[in-house]
Amino acid sequence: MNQVYEKLMKAYACYQERTDFRPEVALVLGSGLGGFAKEVDVRMTLPYAQIEGLPVSTAPGHTGQFVLGYLGEVPVVLMQGRVHYYEGYEITDVVLPERLMCLMGAKVLFLTNAAGGFGDGFSPGTLMMITDHISLFVPNPLRGPNLDAFGLRFPDMTQVYDLKLRQVIREAADREGIDLKEGVYAQLPGPSFETPAEIRMLKMLGVSACGMSTVAEAIAAHHMGMRVCGISCITNMAAGFSTRKQTQEEVYETADRVGRDFCNLVRESVITIGRQILNV
Ligand code: HPA
Repeated sequence: MNQVYEKLMKAYACYQERTDFRPEVALVLGSGLGGFAKEVDVRMTLPYAQIEGLPVSTAPGHTGQFVLGYLGEVPVVLMQGRVHYYEGYEITDVVLPERLMCLMGAKVLFLTNAAGGFGDGFSPGTLMMITDHISLFVPNPLRGPNLDAFGLRFPDMTQVYDLKLRQVIREAADREGIDLKEGVYAQLPGPSFETPAEIRMLKMLGVSACGMSTVAEAIAAHHMGMRVCGISCITNMAAGFSTRKQTQEEVYETADRVGRDFCNLVRESVITIGRQILNV
């Protein structure tokens, strides 16, 4: 029997014992962005630790719970805090919560993260919609026996970040007066920040922002047929693009500063996604 499948089904059974809530949209809140939960009309919180087999987030600023509730009319599940590969979990475990949210009923996965930026015109506080990704030195979450019940062995990755969702997000940014940039995001394993040479390499590859999450989650969700979109909050200029050293403190300071724009953009996007795309 496929061990990942078994683990996932146990986790889903655990979820079903607690609630029959069926979200339409799943959101992952990045470092310092967990405050978005205050936008939600909350019905229930569910710590990851209460679901058998789920990894528990140990990163600072990551609460480690699902928040179930409504954004406008749209039933949503938020991950307030995510798990990272650098915490030591197997990559197949890192993406279990996203797979579980798909089983809960979510058709859209809205990923957010804090990232180091180096795209043209970027500064700390820039919001960047992810148009594509590169995975570097992080194992593929589909490694191992394929979960045939959910997706193909060799899934197409031509368009991971859904075009219609991107259009909705762009229009929401226009309405909110937010200067939304777009670009390619790269996931590196962390937990050390990158060196200037690594960032120069990424820049040559056409990358605009990098971090330690998101890509593996997008791959697993796309594999299961979820529609995926993502926004990076550029919390700092990446190594070599700033005279400052990279620190966790700057990540939180900037995430806090742009919190309001971020919350408005994500809330407006999800409500429109619910109305226009999911017919909620
Ligand atoms: N690098 C990697 N991850 C990050 C960064 C960074 O500069 N900022 C926030 N997360």
